[in-house]
Amino acid sequence: MEYSAVESRLSDLLAKLEKEFSAKTPRSRELFERSRRVLPGGVTYAIRFFKPHPLYIEKAEGTRVWDVDGNEYVDYWMGHGTHILGHSPKIVVDSVREILGRGTHFGYENPYAVEYAELLSRVVPGLEMVRFTNSGTEANMYALRLARAFTRRRYVVKIEGGWHGGYDALHTSVTPPFAGPESAGLPEEYVKYTLTVPYNDVEATEEVLKKYPVAAVFVEPVIGAGGCVEPVGSYLKDLRELTYRYGSLLVFDEVITGFRLAPGGGQEYFDVRADLVVLGKVVGGGFAGAGAFGGRSEVMELLDHLKHPDPRSRSFHGGTFVGNPVNMVAGYALVKYLAENRSLYEASNSAWSEFRRSIDRVCEDYGRACWTTGAGSMVGIHFTKLRPRNVREVYEHRWSRVVEHAYHLHARTSGILYISEKLVHLLPSLVHSKSEIELFRNTFESFLAKVLRS
Ligand SMILES: Cc1ncc(COP(=O)(O)O)c(C=O)c1O
Repeated sequence: MEYSAVESRLSDLLAKLEKEFSAKTPRSRELFERSRRVLPGGVTYAIRFFKPHPLYIEKAEGTRVWDVDGNEYVDYWMGHGTHILGHSPKIVVDSVREILGRGTHFGYENPYAVEYAELLSRVVPGLEMVRFTNSGTEANMYALRLARAFTRRRYVVKIEGGWHGGYDALHTSVTPPFAGPESAGLPEEYVKYTLTVPYNDVEATEEVLKKYPVAAVFVEPVIGAGGCVEPVGSYLKDLRELTYRYGSLLVFDEVITGFRLAPGGGQEYFDVRADLVVLGKVVGGGFAGAGAFGGRSEVMELLDHLKHPDPRSRSFHGGTFVGNPVNMVAGYALVKYLAENRSLYEASNSAWSEFRRSIDRVCEDYGRACWTTGAGSMVGIHFTKLRPRNVREVYEHRWSRVVEHAYHLHARTSGILYISEKLVHLLPSLVHSKSEIELFRNTFESFLAKVLRS
């Protein structure tokens, strides 16, 4: 393919699409100008920014969202992957309405946390005990501390391009050049004990496990924010075997894959058992305060203040809002429904597999200009020269610096929304319809026709 001709076509298209987008979204533009004065970057979270300005959403229902200018979009991002049954499913909203009539946060133990913990221990493989947190970041933070306490080791292995939230020890090697702290204000020493290896690379993982006393290997069963890259062959099973052999814990960060690939998440989908599993997003039932970590009771008991009365001999976990009744009843209603409606997964996983195959066929028709990755309802689309097998390849094999952004604008102006404009990856719900899947496919195909036609 002649990529230089494509680049100039892309820049013309970008200018045209930006104009079209701006004409459709004047109120979002106005809000952005106001918000720049009070919110750094004009946004609440940098990944929600789009060029030339973000969209300000004021309503969401099912698979749709509406912006402040009244434009409707099919949402393929679903609250960062939270809304697995669509926005505001009735079973969840009803359960929360009911609890809100009795309080928002008691600050004492409540029966709903017990019921929810029991349900999770039935649905998530190997989750004998669980603790709730306020976010996925927090859940990873406490899981790492627990793993270090249990193994009495300090090193942790994380995957290049893996995202576990902004907690210090795991906030390294997320984006190129995959080295050092990923944030200003994070001293080198805070990531000194964090060792990074590429995803899908068993040999590199064994090398570091051989060399260092590693408390835990943290891995997303399918890489999420790095582009929805799936494990190849027996990768996850090999990690299981290696961590047993070298005395490290295997921690699955299932903040995205949990309740998404299967009710029991990546462990169930890939038939591999971790020592600890980290949950987020769906686990909160669609409400803020979504996080949990759990696993083997032998490990989790290190959090038990009755068994370990001296605070220095146990691993700390807690927080004002953990286990609050709103999250507990919402999460319970959602997870119970998911566990009782497994057929939803079969239909959705096979529809999205077919989607990936059909996009791959289109990419092939256009001189192999793009590739799909993913598993179940996780979809990555990469404008790369090779099918990426890890996050380094996602970035290093790109053939353009603007094509992702141009496609995002094309999608936005065609009534499709997802994050981010720098990386095409989708976390749809289980209830997206065939015609909504088709809409994405057609929109993608029409973009390739515009940009890559000979
Ligand atoms: C795999 C994974 N782990 C952890 C996190 C952090 O979760 P939170 O944003 O709830 O802190 C995320 C967020 O997207 C994630 O995708």
